[in-house]
Amino acid sequence: MGGNKTVDSLKHGICGEIFIPGDKSISHRSVMFSSLGDRAVRIRNFLNAQDCMSTVACMRSLGIQIDQIGPTEFIVHGKGLHGLQEPQCIVDAGNSGTTLRLMMGILAPQPFLTTFTGDASLHKRPMGRVIKPLSAMGAHIVGRESAKFLPVTLIPTQKLKGIDYQMPMASAQVKSAVLLAGMYADGETRVTEPYTSRDHTEKMLETFGVALDKEGTSITIKAVDSFHAPELIEVPGDISSAAFWLVAASIIPGSELTLRNVGVNPTRTGILDVLIDMGADITLINKRFSGKEPVADIVVKSAALHGTTFGAKIIPRLVDEIPVIAVAAMFAEGETVITGAGELRVKETDRLQAITTEFNKLADCIIAAEDGLTIKGSAKLKAASCLSYHDHRIAMALAIAGAAGAGVTIDNAECVNISYPEFYATLETLRKG
Ligand code: S3P
Repeated sequence: MGGNKTVDSLKHGICGEIFIPGDKSISHRSVMFSSLGDRAVRIRNFLNAQDCMSTVACMRSLGIQIDQIGPTEFIVHGKGLHGLQEPQCIVDAGNSGTTLRLMMGILAPQPFLTTFTGDASLHKRPMGRVIKPLSAMGAHIVGRESAKFLPVTLIPTQKLKGIDYQMPMASAQVKSAVLLAGMYADGETRVTEPYTSRDHTEKMLETFGVALDKEGTSITIKAVDSFHAPELIEVPGDISSAAFWLVAASIIPGSELTLRNVGVNPTRTGILDVLIDMGADITLINKRFSGKEPVADIVVKSAALHGTTFGAKIIPRLVDEIPVIAVAAMFAEGETVITGAGELRVKETDRLQAITTEFNKLADCIIAAEDGLTIKGSAKLKAASCLSYHDHRIAMALAIAGAAGAGVTIDNAECVNISYPEFYATLETLRKG
């Protein structure tokens, strides 16, 4: 059972430096890919949070030895592309869509049976978007409501065949599932997105020696017979976690923060583009690479923000940041209009509905459309009790709104453990600092 958390209004600007925890997307992939690799891989700055630990538990139940050797350091003893074993029990993906969808891509071609479950939220999320292309490749997958929802069972079948798949939505999870299944399929597998989503799968496949053909928003993969693991994967910090501090420092007068070790892969930096467009004072320093992933430190100072407009094309580059961008928009001068964001309705909760209902308890300034939001800025926030819907990013966005405004009480506040267990402790450090 969850508890409430009250976040008080901050009486002063926030200053200091924050080391950003490991990227969730890259942490998932580091464990999955290393499990299929040809030697032990040391993973550093792994995101030790509930979602990524669901991936660790899944891979352990498939017979992979994974040693935790420090709070954020793991060694994965890969057994090769054909080394996974049939799980003895139902595999639980918890709250994690990434775990479930990518694992379906890996497991659909395997010669054994797997049944997946997950938490209440994951049971409501659409799995047909992955099951449909995998079935077209020859996979045999059954699930609730004619293979649309959990529970899902993957039944061994004949060798998969490559397909040319036009994705109806931009989604790195769907793209990754098809490409991972494509490693085991006869012939070529091509996947095309309407807009490019995060490309961590492509980058990490290349790190493991897989050749990909990229053309526009299409990626082609051929059957893979060797998967050469690197000795070390150093996971960059998660820009989706840094996002909360980028907005907090921007809207709380007198703030200056340095965010250390942030992944700045261009498929993820939509939040920087939008905040800078709104007038934010953001500078990238110490630009470098961690493997194929670009990394930087980010200096952010408070600034007077103004409203903006953005739509479908940039959404995949900031899809998880819209709750906290909505907070920035509440404090900006003028109106912000977001369109083309219908995917938010099928995240951990219906985020467009959650933002509208809960943020409006703090200031009545947001109107939802079917696929977006209109936010009236310069809102006068009052203190209120708000629901998180057990959604980590809704809880953290509410906390920032409350800290910058007049305070907030959040129910089931511990759901931040899904992606950012140190979130409230870091906020407290800033309060004292
Ligand atoms: C993720 C992709 C995104 C994102 C999720 C992580 C990934 O989902 O919202 O938090 O790691 O591939 P979609 O690909 O479904 O948009």
